[in-house]
Amino acid sequence: MQSTEPSEALEAILLVGGQGTRLRPLTLHTPKPLLPTAGVPFLAHQLAKAHAYGVRRIVFATSYRAAMFAEAFGDGSAFGLEIVYMTEESPLGTGGAIRNAAEALTCPPDAPVLVLNGDILSGHDISAQVALHRSRGAAVTLHLTEVDDPTRFGCVPTTPDGRVTAFLEKTPTPVTNRINAGCYVFQRSVIDSIPAGEVVSVERETFPGLIEAGELVLGYADGSYWLDVGTPAAFVQGSADLVQGRLTSSALPGTAGECLLLDGAMVSPEAKVTGGTVVGARATVEAGASVRGSVLADDCVVAAGAVVVDSVVGSGARVASGAVLREVVVGDGALIGAGNELMSGLRIWPGVTLPECSVRFSSDV
Ligand code: GDD
Ligand code: MG
Repeated sequence: MQSTEPSEALEAILLVGGQGTRLRPLTLHTPKPLLPTAGVPFLAHQLAKAHAYGVRRIVFATSYRAAMFAEAFGDGSAFGLEIVYMTEESPLGTGGAIRNAAEALTCPPDAPVLVLNGDILSGHDISAQVALHRSRGAAVTLHLTEVDDPTRFGCVPTTPDGRVTAFLEKTPTPVTNRINAGCYVFQRSVIDSIPAGEVVSVERETFPGLIEAGELVLGYADGSYWLDVGTPAAFVQGSADLVQGRLTSSALPGTAGECLLLDGAMVSPEAKVTGGTVVGARATVEAGASVRGSVLADDCVVAAGAVVVDSVVGSGARVASGAVLREVVVGDGALIGAGNELMSGLRIWPGVTLPECSVRFSSDV
């Protein structure tokens, strides 16, 4: 029987060692899990959720820019958690990272351990996933969700009663739209059986190996909100969804609505700021500007009449009058000169200046 009560004394491992390559230049200096998302570091949303489901002790598996995590979250007490950090000297892959982090677990071999990818927003019921895992005596229970394009994820076919029959990581020929949603319940003994100190992929080695060996690998499938924020488009989408309350997060600093204004943000009464936009601390949106579904970082400026849609504007960056940005990432301190029109997927590196773009009509010359 499934329960939605918090699981007692559950320990967790959070995978946060990836380089966040697809989110450059945002991740050049800040790891993906620490990017400000709906007003707080991304992980704050995952930590709040884990806490709500009974997690009290969590091991961060870090590698890239490891020290920044401890600076941001300390010992975890501000979040009602005990946070422990385990750092790989060089990245060990997802399986190697889980094995390395397990050295810091305190639970016995027969206890379930929650393992989370550090770039996921999810509305699923962790307690129900743990309850399914316990009731069926599984080795591992994977949260599964459905997406339109499974080729970018781990494709996970199951039998009707939820037994995982294969794990096909990023296959060009998916057999189902059901994918690995990046939240696992592992028996601790299964983690301990991953070879220590080696580069191991849980997706390409551990899961296929367990299935091959006849171990019970289960899928917990549901249709709740789910998003991997690993691309710029998904990152702005996730932030906007949190601000608008499409996914509830107790870490949201304010109430859900059209926009979230952080301390000292200045929005002209003649500006339009909508679609779950965050206006960072001390950032300015001038008269006649229109900003929709975007993340404006601290101290940036969107000048009069500029249009910013589904984009990220880095801290201290400036979007000059009349510039138009759609699905663009502007790095910290960059300057987008007046009149520029930048479109989907464009990334402007930190500190770059795009000169003013003036269009002259023949009658003017
Ligand atoms: N500590 C550590 N060490 N963490 C790592 C390492 C490593 O070597 N490599 C990756 N990670 C962390 C990342 O920081 C991220 O939180 C998580 O592991 C998954 O890595 P991603 O790079 O985001 O993988 P993905 O999105 O391409 O694919 C994964 O997630 C999908 C769901 O979003 C896979 O698990 C797929 O099967 C899954 O469908
Ligand atoms: Mg990912």
